[in-house]
Amino acid sequence: MEFSDTYIESFIQPRNDLLIEMETFARDNHVPIMQLPAIDVLNQILRIQKPSNILEIGTAIGYSAIRMALTLPKSNIVTIERDADRVVLARDFIARSEVANQITVIEGDALEVDVDSKSTFDAVFIDAAKGQYMRFFEKYSPLVPSGGVLYIDNMYMHGLSDLNLKDVPRRKRTMIRNLRNFADWIMNHDEYDCTFFPVGDGLLICLKR
Ligand SMILES: C[S@@+](CC[C@H](N)C(=O)[O-])C[C@H]1O[C@@H](n2cnc3c(N)ncnc32)[C@H](O)[C@@H]1O
Repeated sequence: MEFSDTYIESFIQPRNDLLIEMETFARDNHVPIMQLPAIDVLNQILRIQKPSNILEIGTAIGYSAIRMALTLPKSNIVTIERDADRVVLARDFIARSEVANQITVIEGDALEVDVDSKSTFDAVFIDAAKGQYMRFFEKYSPLVPSGGVLYIDNMYMHGLSDLNLKDVPRRKRTMIRNLRNFADWIMNHDEYDCTFFPVGDGLLICLKR
């Protein structure tokens, strides 16, 4: 028996005016932000985990960063975005939010920027270029202590991850191959206990042993 998405979505909590404005902006301008049921699941697990320091890779316009900061008023969030126009939008939306003091936006490619190597993050949320997940993981997982959690979105890649490669559009094959290699690698990694949450576009949650 399957659950109905409509039924589950009927329980999504109302959001404030700024968040609704951001959701509308994202929809109208084709900015991909995390799907509402997935962000509710992410936030609920963050409430249970209670991380102090969160690193997000892939800010877009700051929607998920604001949602996480509202959920965890005592947490600090560092978020990295390489698209300069989106950084401007994110900083503007964050400045208008009530959680601006919790969020730092770093502009640059997450594979190139220097995040203070003495920082540790008890939660890392990876939501950027899907073909690079292995590289993000390799760069940032050393900053996660034992007991920390990595949250990784878009593991289904809108259904493409599940297809025979020959049925995937040619220009997306390398990305899907990389994403699958990453999934196989991390699910068999000695240092992590990982589980797929079949919500939104597929959320992978990995606890560091
Ligand atoms: C799916 S969006 C992030 C959505 C956001 N987390 C949310 O739910 O509100 C992915 C973002 O990652 C950014 N991105 C992709 N690769 C990146 C990289 N290597 N470094 C930094 N940002 C990257 C893209 O420009 C894009 O804005």
